[in-house]
Amino acid sequence: FDTVDVIAAKRDGRALSKEQIDWVIDAYTRGAVAEEQMAALAMAIFINDMAPVEIAHWTQAMIDSGERMDFSSLSRPTSDKHSTGGVGDKITLPLAPLVAVFDVAVPQLSGRGLGHTGGTLDKLESIPGWQAGLSNEAIVDQLEDVGAVICAAGSGLAPADKKLYALRDITSTVDCIPLIASSIMSKKIAEGTSGLVLDVKVGSGAFMKDLAKARTLAQTMVELGKSAGVNTSALLTDMSTPLGLTVGNALEVRESVEVLAGGGPADVVDLTVALAEEMLRLAGKTDVDVRAALADGRAMDKWKQMIRAQHGDPDASLPVAEHTEVVTATDSGVLTKLDALSVGVASWRLGAGRARKEDPVQDVAGIELHAKPGDTVTAGQPLMTLHTATPERFERAIEALESAVEIGGDAASVPESIVFDTIT
Ligand code: URA
Repeated sequence: FDTVDVIAAKRDGRALSKEQIDWVIDAYTRGAVAEEQMAALAMAIFINDMAPVEIAHWTQAMIDSGERMDFSSLSRPTSDKHSTGGVGDKITLPLAPLVAVFDVAVPQLSGRGLGHTGGTLDKLESIPGWQAGLSNEAIVDQLEDVGAVICAAGSGLAPADKKLYALRDITSTVDCIPLIASSIMSKKIAEGTSGLVLDVKVGSGAFMKDLAKARTLAQTMVELGKSAGVNTSALLTDMSTPLGLTVGNALEVRESVEVLAGGGPADVVDLTVALAEEMLRLAGKTDVDVRAALADGRAMDKWKQMIRAQHGDPDASLPVAEHTEVVTATDSGVLTKLDALSVGVASWRLGAGRARKEDPVQDVAGIELHAKPGDTVTAGQPLMTLHTATPERFERAIEALESAVEIGGDAASVPESIVFDTIT
């Protein structure tokens, strides 16, 4: 094949054959297709879309670019969760140990944050001693011994996606259903989980801003999973406002531990329970009392085991920011908007996120929320506390929050439930 012909075909709106797709992904992974050629192809896909059969072939070619993990030696079924990314989304932390309580193994291969969305590994690294990197063998051993592992995805899984994702990030081709669906599902299918629940976020803090697009993305991914033999379903969930009352690495670990201790904000608990029930259902367990395992300490015991297995100290104090600044309400009334994207960007600017892949993040940086949409607030009361190790960052963070808050707007715009729909 000739790369230029493949690009021209997609540019002109034609479907790519399986052979063309296999060839271009393989050649790109080997370095035989140049970055600028793949950038042109990604933009052609962005503009002209792909048919379901092309997306399936594209996903398979990305899986075939690397290794596949194998959990068939485990004595329990595996079930995993993937979130399309949000603000304050710490759900993986309480969820993995909670599901493991019920004898279902959770292989949670995770990533780092980029842009305004946080990364699970960055959060866990605020726990003294905790290590993200495990060999494939160590992952399987920990799944057998503890039942849950949250660690870095090795470089062997879908290497084509690693290259392509970095390229999409700098060519404005991230926000594209075929490319997102194939990116996520190639990694999850290569990981070898038998069950998979997708948490597809909808709203300002998500890739998908509206429900119709989020539904199409969810359906596309559920179909890809099922046809690869992975028992897959999706929840469509709210990301118009941050999840819980904390955004930022150590702050989110603290809140996750509150949930594991039987407390925590209702939205975080509700979503953790909904996802746990769905993961367990896919593993054949329907008659389980998930909330009881949060209330009676079983999930907390699992969490401590899981953190210790990766050299973390679950009882150590978490780092706390030296500098804080309080943002107060300018009016009295019902809080009708606390915009997820603005809060995510502000937290990122405080130091919780990174601008380039290789940048370090601050454990302590982030935002504590003191009110959520639906709450009644009074002028002058604290709405948020900003945290950072570097106080010169406050100014730009506060700028990002300029239109984040609405008091006395349309109360009907506040969603009643965090889960909008389930797609099976
Ligand atoms: N997460 C991924 O892994 N890939 C995407 O394309 C978007 C979100």
